[in-house]
Amino acid sequence: MNWKDSIINQLGKLNPKFLASVEKGMKAIPAVSQKIDAEYAGVMVELESSSKPYRKNFTTFTQIPDTGREYDVVLREMEAMREQEESQWKDGFVSGAVYHGDQKHIDFLNKVYAINSQANPLHADVWPSATKFEAEIVAMTANMLGGDGQNVCGTLSSGGTESILLAMKSYRDWGREKKGITKPEMIVPVTAHAAFEKASQYFNIKLVHIPVDENFRADVDAAKKAITPNTVVIVGSAPSFPHGAIDPIEQLSELARQNNIGFHTDGCLGGFVLPWAEKLGYPVPPFDFRLPGVTSMSADTHKYGYAAKGTSVVLYRGEELRHFQYFTTTDWPGGLYFSPTFAGSRPGALSAACWASLTTIGAQGYLSATKKILETADAMKKGIREIPELRVLGEPLFVIAFASDSINIYKVLDYMSHKKWSLNGLHKPTCVHICVTLRHTQHGVAERFISDLKEAVAHVKAHPEEKGTMAPVYGMAATLPLRGMVSDLLKRYLDVIFKA
Ligand SMILES: Cc1ncc(COP(=O)(O)O)c(C=O)c1O
Repeated sequence: MNWKDSIINQLGKLNPKFLASVEKGMKAIPAVSQKIDAEYAGVMVELESSSKPYRKNFTTFTQIPDTGREYDVVLREMEAMREQEESQWKDGFVSGAVYHGDQKHIDFLNKVYAINSQANPLHADVWPSATKFEAEIVAMTANMLGGDGQNVCGTLSSGGTESILLAMKSYRDWGREKKGITKPEMIVPVTAHAAFEKASQYFNIKLVHIPVDENFRADVDAAKKAITPNTVVIVGSAPSFPHGAIDPIEQLSELARQNNIGFHTDGCLGGFVLPWAEKLGYPVPPFDFRLPGVTSMSADTHKYGYAAKGTSVVLYRGEELRHFQYFTTTDWPGGLYFSPTFAGSRPGALSAACWASLTTIGAQGYLSATKKILETADAMKKGIREIPELRVLGEPLFVIAFASDSINIYKVLDYMSHKKWSLNGLHKPTCVHICVTLRHTQHGVAERFISDLKEAVAHVKAHPEEKGTMAPVYGMAATLPLRGMVSDLLKRYLDVIFKA
């Protein structure tokens, strides 16, 4: 172990709260903060040049041009950018991201968008079509997720994160009104999506993390022990983003029901896969409103619902709970105002495209898409398991995380990136995942994935001296005990993203 690794190793054994306070104290020393700034500057220059590829060949605008540009010129520029960006996801090199991506489907959704581009559901009187589409998307999703006869209702949102934020805010307000809880707490498996931590930060709900078992499923006993009089909701994923594991929703939701606490199933990723997987005979444990303890769910239409980006559904058992999501004001000089979600005006065209996707694909279409995805994922899992240096984590259906006990998996990730793959590097534990979509079901993609992976493993094994490009960064991000520094780095990266 070199000196840097051993320092990190030793620091890793210290109490994180103590470290955070040391870190804060250290940053207050001018010499230390100057040194940190200097270190960051170098990293940022590199990040800036790699994240701004169009500065070279395209005009950069930092003010509105005096004379408007020609439509044709703008369209040509955008076509050129699309051409550069499209092939990677189109040819199935990307984990998740684009879930359908067939040109015919894209063209159709674009036409639907064009017809509805001016629609805004905020003005229900002007665009009753938008409200029709939204109400029916909610109804179809509720029906798909066991909501029939269960008084399940909901709203559309802009994506998985918004659906989760909305549900958590609803539980906070429900707890306050119904139980007088002023210091709300949410019980969340460590593997649940980061959006729950975002909800905790935004809405001041204490995040109580519970661990997962060896198959990355939430620990029910830990959930039981974590319940306090301030708990407003327990969360489970179906499945989780990192390892594609389905939490024990039946037990967790029953625990919540017995304690008169809300239970949210995060089906953002799996909401439009698991119902069809179950019909196809795959082993899908109960996860939806058929379980009496499940009081809300999120399911993303813009993932496996195959809609354009920008829609998701949040569902509630009963209108009373949904009311805690709504915003109304009666005394504003602008008149009576009410809106169901965080946004005011919303893109009705995206709701139209979502409705069009659900109704044109239909149950048969979802069944056959799911079949193709699960068969491809099975082939990929088999291929990974045949590589002796790798092991698949847990028992996933379609999000496959894999790790290695003998080689650095981040170097494998690096090698795969050089072969055009865009996979996700995860930590705690160190692993890589691929979220299988329809893009990977194209002829030859799964085979190419496995052969590239074999080549990557063989290369890393044969060249232990190579550091890799991103592998050290991933490694550091996972192990550096000064989490505040890592967080600072991420904020500075976001600053770079918004630099023209
Ligand atoms: C399980 C899960 N929940 C929530 C989200 C958040 O969705 P979005 O990125 O649409 O906000 C994701 C995204 O991948 C997810 O996998």
